[in-house]
Amino acid sequence: MEKFYITTPIYYANDAPHIGHACTTVRADALARWNRMLGKKVFFSGGMDEHGLKIQRKAEQSNKAPQIFVDEIFAQFRDLWQKLNISCDGFIRTTDEKHKKTVECVLNELYEKGAVYKGIYKGFYCVGCEQFLAKSQLIDGKCLDHNKKPEILEEENYLLKMSALRKNLLEKIESDKLKIVPETRKNEILSFLRNQDLDDISISRNKKNVSWGIELPFDRNHVVYVWIDAFLNYLTVFGWDGDLKNIPDFFPPDVQLMSKDILRVHATIWPAILMHLNLPLPRKFYVHGQILFEGKKMSKTLGNVIDPFELIEEHGTDAVRYYLLREITPFDDGDITKEKFKEAYNANLANGLGNLVSRIMKMSEQYLRRSPTSSATKSDFVAQAPNDYKKLMDNYELNKIMDLIWQKISKLDLKIQETQPFKLIKTEPEKAKEILRELVSGLNQIAIMLKPFLPETSEKIIKAIEANKMPEPLFLRKE
Ligand code: MSP
Repeated sequence: MEKFYITTPIYYANDAPHIGHACTTVRADALARWNRMLGKKVFFSGGMDEHGLKIQRKAEQSNKAPQIFVDEIFAQFRDLWQKLNISCDGFIRTTDEKHKKTVECVLNELYEKGAVYKGIYKGFYCVGCEQFLAKSQLIDGKCLDHNKKPEILEEENYLLKMSALRKNLLEKIESDKLKIVPETRKNEILSFLRNQDLDDISISRNKKNVSWGIELPFDRNHVVYVWIDAFLNYLTVFGWDGDLKNIPDFFPPDVQLMSKDILRVHATIWPAILMHLNLPLPRKFYVHGQILFEGKKMSKTLGNVIDPFELIEEHGTDAVRYYLLREITPFDDGDITKEKFKEAYNANLANGLGNLVSRIMKMSEQYLRRSPTSSATKSDFVAQAPNDYKKLMDNYELNKIMDLIWQKISKLDLKIQETQPFKLIKTEPEKAKEILRELVSGLNQIAIMLKPFLPETSEKIIKAIEANKMPEPLFLRKE
């Protein structure tokens, strides 16, 4: 059976989850569900990034032991993924004992191989990014993403060899052996790799400065740089023990999702670790944009963070999935406000899909003696799925697939308007029933096409069709 391994980034356990985190994870979920429908053996991973200075400081400010602090944040993320119907196959926390042990094991390997060496590192460190930034990445001396001056660090620590890997990495990305989608993001990375040296990077911090992390097994005065710890999650999520002769069957990932903010580290440090270990590189990165609020970055300080729990509470799971998958474009930045959300919900879910389902199923229940169609099986659907549907999935154009589905919804609406089966039933009952059967069959197809995106809604529609009964309203109009 063909395998398919898909990952999301592991999110920092420094704050409550927001709608941006949900955006990546919901996309990955739709892709994982689709690949299961194709009959592949899927492993969909997620997790929490729980070490590093950012979390250490946040825990100190909250007067909590860091482990207790991250446990609480983890519980919130877990709750959100359950509420959003996320079908994860594995979930990793970097504070898991087994993960920590494996990271130590890999670090030893890298050290023994000479890929890691001791040196002096000086640079600008942005705690928000948990990254050293090059001067060229600073605007007015500040990190653009966090609008803050980075800290200047000069420390004796351990470095990972990167410079010698540049050519090889460039070749892998140019040739699409490591494919970066979309093309614009691929070009960004290529131009970075072509025009600059790939500097060796610091991969440890002295414990005097950062204590919340995994100790280097060969120098207990240091903890490992949080990104090294984090990247290994893509292997430890399988419970891998660090034995390089026995790597997980699913590895390497078929596709790794992220937004553009963390592409550069994924396209440099992550493959560098794998190259040093002689492990295969991921096949693809799918890089999406950022969700903005009225065109601005969401942040606690600006007070414009959209709380996904609130949206789910008010509009339901599938409404949130709908917005993230259709109203936010797959590659560019997208915007969300509560007003926009409500507008899209009313127009397309309550009045669009919801209305259509109740109109058709009401007539079907009233005029057809039994269900006119047995739901097509999954494999039928995959075989019959419109070509554009498959192609769009392959290109991650999830919003366009949703457009296809909504075109079908409009077509059925139009058919009801034009043929008026509820009137026709009085004069030409056989003809009206035939039209109704076609409508139900169209609805059934819509439900199956919706499966990877809005799984709960899809199931409700299929069940209603099987029982030939009008379901409870799927979406209520919100004023
Ligand atoms: N812990 C690192 C990732 C390590 S993976 C080996 C990290 N964590 S994070 O919590 O900052 O999450 C960043 C990711 O969350 C982004 O790449 C993206 O997938 C998602 N998003 C966070 N905010 C977002 C938006 N406003 N919009 C869309 N996605 C965003 O970086």
